[in-house]
Amino acid sequence: MTKPFKTLDDIGEVAGRRVLVREDLNVPMADGRVTDDTRLRATLATVTELADKGAIVLVLAHFGRPKGQPSAEFSLEQIVAPYADVLGRPVRFIDWEGAEGAVAALSAGDIAVLENTRFFGGEEKNDPAVVARFAALGDLYVNDAFSAAHRAHASTEGLARALPAFAGRAMEAELDALEKALGKPEHPVAAVVGGAKVSTKLDVLKHLVGKVDHLIIGGGMANTFLAARGVDVGKSLCEHDLASVADEIMAAADAARCTVHLPYDVVVAKEFRADPPTRTVNVHEVAADEMILDVGPAAVESLADVLKNCRTLVWNGPMGAFETPPFDTATVALARTAAALTQDGSLVSVAGGGDTVAALNQAGVGDQFTFVSTAGGAFLEWMEGRELPGVAALTR
Ligand code: 3PG
Repeated sequence: MTKPFKTLDDIGEVAGRRVLVREDLNVPMADGRVTDDTRLRATLATVTELADKGAIVLVLAHFGRPKGQPSAEFSLEQIVAPYADVLGRPVRFIDWEGAEGAVAALSAGDIAVLENTRFFGGEEKNDPAVVARFAALGDLYVNDAFSAAHRAHASTEGLARALPAFAGRAMEAELDALEKALGKPEHPVAAVVGGAKVSTKLDVLKHLVGKVDHLIIGGGMANTFLAARGVDVGKSLCEHDLASVADEIMAAADAARCTVHLPYDVVVAKEFRADPPTRTVNVHEVAADEMILDVGPAAVESLADVLKNCRTLVWNGPMGAFETPPFDTATVALARTAAALTQDGSLVSVAGGGDTVAALNQAGVGDQFTFVSTAGGAFLEWMEGRELPGVAALTR
């Protein structure tokens, strides 16, 4: 199938050529150590393929939000050693000062990480002068950082217009998976949207009702929808001021023939802590001093039946307060059902967004979905149906 963007299959001869590869090296760190190297590993395919073909690989990335101010705290120099461990090859570090000379001294097959792109204030403004500064260091540009593609920055958008531009292998895999999930999916399509607050996912919900056949709402946000329907949710987390918005979303879903699934039984407790006394009740039986902390087992069972009849699933956000046991029960059960259906070949499952990856890993099924995106904000913007500037620049 012809793709709407060029990939490494189209890049031609790279031996001895300088390839600027935008990666997302924005990894969590504590006490000088990388605490989750998923994003470093995600770069492996592209960086090693290019280096093996003799390219001079120049990795461009941001780290944190230094707002144009260089500092040791936000220097990518601290990532170089852990990155070299992950790649299993030497990685050089190149500071912005004297970058041209340092790049000129590299040889075919070398890999170097350039200093934080956000040490230039103009990076986030997509300033043409910064684009030109980056572009002068390379002959070709590869964007492999889907998780930064919602930013119209010099290194994510500007460069794609300044140099011949290609999607890296991780970007390609991500875009292929997302196309299968919401672009041209096999129907019926289900979306699971969970998480604490409706207010952070209004645009996601509005977009999805026009795209999917089943919208499964869980987490704290389900409480807002239940309350809008007149259910007394006790002292549950709930955005009562969004009742009319919840109604509008339900009406839009009706008009689009999208079935919205809200929990009809729930797990409640009087205090939010690990292993407090709990009750499993019908949503109409929540007491004034109780809070809803998870979807109940009967609802989970019927949601599992919904998934069994679907061909495609897109998942963002947990069904309950999953970090605190036993309120991970519904998330774990539904994630395992989705994983089993995926492994059987009956479901294409795509999940993404910060908490979601952690929740799937907690369920032990992070590697059993068709695709799990490590993107946070970019995944949400994609679920909102928004054009991501970094992707748009590649497909132009
Ligand atoms: C992320 O961590 O989601 C990406 O690296 C983007 O980072 P940003 O939100 O600082 O642009």
